[in-house]
Amino acid sequence: MQTIQVRSLMGDYDVCCASGALAHAGSLIAGLGETTGTFVLSSPRVWRHWGRAVMKNVPGAARKPILFDDAEAAKRLSAVEHIARELVRAGADRHATVVAVGGGVVGDVAGFAAASYLRGVRVVHIPTTLVAQVDSSVGGKTGVNLPEGKNLVGAFYPPKLVIVDPQMLGTLPHREFRSGVYEVVKYGAIADAALFKFLEEHMREVLRRDAEALAFIIGRSIAIKARVVNKDERENGLRQILNFGHTLGHALEAATNYRRFLHGEAIAWGMIAVAMMGLAAERIPLMDAFRIVRLTASVGPLPSVPEIPAEELQRIMLGDKKARAGRVLWVVPSQIGKTEWGIEVPWPLVMKAVGSLPEVMAEARSTPMVKNAARATMRKRQR
Ligand SMILES: NC(=O)c1ccc[n+]([C@@H]2O[C@H](COP(=O)([O-])OP(=O)(O)OC[C@H]3O[C@@H](n4cnc5c(N)ncnc54)[C@H](O)[C@@H]3O)[C@@H](O)[C@H]2O)c1
Ligand SMILES: [Zn+2]
Repeated sequence: MQTIQVRSLMGDYDVCCASGALAHAGSLIAGLGETTGTFVLSSPRVWRHWGRAVMKNVPGAARKPILFDDAEAAKRLSAVEHIARELVRAGADRHATVVAVGGGVVGDVAGFAAASYLRGVRVVHIPTTLVAQVDSSVGGKTGVNLPEGKNLVGAFYPPKLVIVDPQMLGTLPHREFRSGVYEVVKYGAIADAALFKFLEEHMREVLRRDAEALAFIIGRSIAIKARVVNKDERENGLRQILNFGHTLGHALEAATNYRRFLHGEAIAWGMIAVAMMGLAAERIPLMDAFRIVRLTASVGPLPSVPEIPAEELQRIMLGDKKARAGRVLWVVPSQIGKTEWGIEVPWPLVMKAVGSLPEVMAEARSTPMVKNAARATMRKRQR
């Protein structure tokens, strides 16, 4: 079992990652010390696939799980109230342990509920999507959306333990899986040239969810996230590199009302656009920009980028909680595996890069590497 330690102002924790790790959940949770009760939080969909296995392996969680809708539209304060009331009814006290089993929505909502229930009870994450395994379960960000925007209410509330079992990805719809692969591409591009090269050479195995390939990319990604969070938990500096592709990606999600793209897909377009901007601004060598575009394209087809007026994109980006004092700042890799952040890019270059996206993608998808990976996706879909 790979164990990655994460440091936090609120207490360090381990991320335990291995194929079949769920079978060890009981002893791992018991290792946290005494608790007055274990309360499992999940969603109906995740529970349909994994409920039985979770109940078998999380001792003491014999009582009914607390299930809530994990649609992005249901990631609201009302879900936190629902969970808190269920916890009261089930008799959870200050020494209870909450175990969140699900994707990023379950983790973010359950994490925030755990942060605020009786001013904080212990939370353990068992992430079940690739996004949750490599990203949202590590780093302590929790929260819910408001009608006015995403993740506007929340807390830093690190878990006491994260149990990552790549086998749990076996039931994930393929589009959701691919959406997570884009985040892995992101980690390679910003911080790990070897991971990036592995993805270039083994995208077919990754898309087939080959156990060894998955274990490798998930372990590497968590290690990067942990390293970054260890240095800058509260995102005062370095942690911003994790937002590569997200500046434009978030704007694309917002401009399309969160319906057209899965999160990772919007980030994929964001990464391609930044590669093009970086190239135009002479911040990244041609070959490195090309590799980012080609690898991103090799993950599979993306919903096309609709026509969005330049003023609207600019307005959304300036309103993003990561914009500073009226400036949009970008994360731009200076080469594969190395990144700079806080970069201002002239607006005309941004719009030019956005405008070039369809053409750049069409060209990238005609390269042999991308065609090969696409075949693997087709086979996975047919199964
Ligand atoms: N806290 C953070 O640092 C952080 C980081 C990244 C994303 N997020 C948040 O995470 C959310 C997105 O999370 P996500 O991408 O994991 O998607 P998700 O939680 O929306 O889950 C996607 C879908 O897959 C289903 N599902 C989950 N696991 C499954 C499994 N093993 N088998 C079959 N179906 C399964 C879910 O029911 C859901 O329908 C967003 O709200 C985003 O804001 C948070
Ligand atoms: Zn993301």
